[in-house]
Amino acid sequence: MSDDDQQLRVSKIRNGTVIDHITGGQALNVLAILGINGTSGESVSVAMNMPSDRLGKKDIVKVEGRELSQNEVDVLSLIAPAASINIVRDYDVVEKHRVERPSVVVGVLECPNHNCITTEDEPVQSRFAVVDDGVRCEYCDTIIRDELPAHIVTD
Ligand code: CTP
Ligand code: ZN
Repeated sequence: MSDDDQQLRVSKIRNGTVIDHITGGQALNVLAILGINGTSGESVSVAMNMPSDRLGKKDIVKVEGRELSQNEVDVLSLIAPAASINIVRDYDVVEKHRVERPSVVVGVLECPNHNCITTEDEPVQSRFAVVDDGVRCEYCDTIIRDELPAHIVTD
């Protein structure tokens, strides 16, 4: 077996998005942010706790045939601040960028306050300001400090 055979752990994709340099252990939370639970039929590869020079251990998520929305990338940056987003077309990486910490995240997270207008049957999207110790609901000021993944909207 050649070196390449020994090192190829997850196949390359033809078209879609590779999220690389995800903080080790966060891949399943990244899938939750993308709303991927396996039932919608997309091909998805996940590698967890791979050795990385920069991070020690990293996760990688590859999603065939899908690009990410800015809202998804914004929330992702909070749990995987070193992640890079690679857009692949016809097997080539045609775009690569690092995620950036946003000042607000819209949609994607659900306010834990059951009386908040964003959690009632109103057509109001959640909006959280990114603050030093977490994210703060712009409607009711509730702060989510940790357990961010537990507040990802699942529909
Ligand atoms: N990749 C993939 N399918 C492709 C092309 C790339 O799955 N058709 C993956 C690579 O395996 C890698 C990531 O996308 O995990 C980025 O690819 P590339 O830019 O070629 O790799 P590097 O130069 O190592 O990336 P970086 O400098 O960001 O570490
Ligand atoms: Zn709220």
